[in-house]
Amino acid sequence: MNIQALLTDKITQALIAAGAPSDCEAQVRQSAKAQFGDYQANGIMSVAKKLGLPPRQLAEQVLTHLDLSPIANKVEIAGPGFINIFLAPEWLASQAKIALADAKLGVTPAVKQTIVVDYSAPNVAKEMHVGHLRSTIIGDAVVRTLEFLGHHVIRANHVGDWGTQFGMLIAYLEKMENEHADNMSLSDLEAFYRAAKQHYDQDPEFAERARNYVVKLQGGDEYCRAMWRKLVDVTMYQNILTYKRLNVTLTVDDVMGESLYNSMLPGIVADLKAKGLAVQSDGATVVYLDEFKNKEGEPMGVIIQKNDGGYLYTTTDIACAKYRYETLKADRVLYYIDSRQHQHLMQAWTIVRKAGYVPESVTLEHHMFGMMLGKDGKPFKTRSGGTIKLSDLLDEAIENADAKLHALIMDKNPDMSEDELRSVINAVGIGAVKYADLSKNRTTDYIFDWDNMLALEGNTAPYMQYAYTRVASIFKRAGIEENSLIGDLQLVDDREKALATRLLQFEETLYAVAREGTPHTMCSYLYDVAGLFSGFYENCPILNHDDQAIRNSRLQLAALTARTLKQGLDTLGIETVERM
Ligand code: ARG
Repeated sequence: MNIQALLTDKITQALIAAGAPSDCEAQVRQSAKAQFGDYQANGIMSVAKKLGLPPRQLAEQVLTHLDLSPIANKVEIAGPGFINIFLAPEWLASQAKIALADAKLGVTPAVKQTIVVDYSAPNVAKEMHVGHLRSTIIGDAVVRTLEFLGHHVIRANHVGDWGTQFGMLIAYLEKMENEHADNMSLSDLEAFYRAAKQHYDQDPEFAERARNYVVKLQGGDEYCRAMWRKLVDVTMYQNILTYKRLNVTLTVDDVMGESLYNSMLPGIVADLKAKGLAVQSDGATVVYLDEFKNKEGEPMGVIIQKNDGGYLYTTTDIACAKYRYETLKADRVLYYIDSRQHQHLMQAWTIVRKAGYVPESVTLEHHMFGMMLGKDGKPFKTRSGGTIKLSDLLDEAIENADAKLHALIMDKNPDMSEDELRSVINAVGIGAVKYADLSKNRTTDYIFDWDNMLALEGNTAPYMQYAYTRVASIFKRAGIEENSLIGDLQLVDDREKALATRLLQFEETLYAVAREGTPHTMCSYLYDVAGLFSGFYENCPILNHDDQAIRNSRLQLAALTARTLKQGLDTLGIETVERM
């Protein structure tokens, strides 16, 4: 049920009947204050201006054409010409009942699109670092949301698995294999990469071999190809373990690394030249873009092929966008990459559009995000200034969750087994790291702070997970199944109505996340639901109410709350537990 869409439709019809053009905008929004009703239409003023009518007069006319029964029980004109809508408790109750009976909580499926989401994208033979954490978590939440709405989602893990560094990596892997044949350990990828680089810088013979391997790898040499595969596989094996720990849905099948586009690059360069977009400059192939200026104020030159014949990150992203449209048949492509790569993407896509590789009807969207900062406001690093390994960060999350919550949980649930306790601590620790990220508007930097993210009060994972267990416990105490509830739903108290209204806005929230790619919208929504539930729970007796009908109705409202919280958290990739 999408209340906003329903009201928009009705009010637009009334506007048209009142003389407005067919493309007029009713601008229906959720009201910020209860006195303005549940929804308000803000579009009357601008339509009136176009028609040359006093806004209040147009509003009056709209009302004569507007029949909102049984949805609303009061509609009024306010201020210069706003229309305030007060939803009818009986209608809300009937809609809540429908939502409760539906496996998808009454959410209308989207008009199905093929949506490619580029996220995570770690680099081969390197540890995943905090930048990849943001991309991974936010991207996965959006993927889950899009799938819940019924879209065909293609997860594209644009792994950094190609480039000249593979020469030295292959040469070093070979050296390691020769030296200690059986126990070759790549478990510390960072150290492996550093050692390879050191050899390359210091040993001319090694460097020569490495350069030779680059050429061979690019030429499809079988030995080099096999060594390269090993490096990719070992890295991805570790990354998949991290994805599993993070409750992220990416698998090995979603890998679409840079190497995938390698064979298309010569064709792209030739085509851009043929189209007159690319020119030779100092031996390199360059596309000059008027849209971007260099320091001298001249059109910026984007190199797509170096004078040694090598291709660039930009060339790959041009081919990649083309592939996603042509081969994957994308209607929409979302990129979860940090904001520092914005210019890079804009340049690649400007070329893509000019070359006509992707039509304007298919959107290429950079859903960028800021950096993770330490408490000191500087980029998040280890004490010695190194990058923080993701696996270490997750270990720390579990330790901190344990230190903070172990006693508390055992106190409340003395009979909890060690196994259950471990899984609760795990869900809370991992959930805290993810939720802290997801709950912030992704476009800005954010401060990574264990105390804040593990707080039991406020918009945090532990609070939300606890809120869920609180609702779930009602059913346990009463010994009833959530899905065995009967009777009508009736919203007698204002708090019941407020909670039901918010619960029925789940669909609006999902669509906002899908449209903007901003999971924090879902976090704020769920936090709101939890708060409204608290107000309801503390003021409206449920189990000890003597009227059976009210008791059953309130239980159903609680059941809808539980399911909405669980489903909402699931779209964010946050696990719920039954007690904590
Ligand atoms: N591997 C890159 C990095 O670590 C991110 C790739 C993002 N995706 C893309 N299509 N360029 O920075």
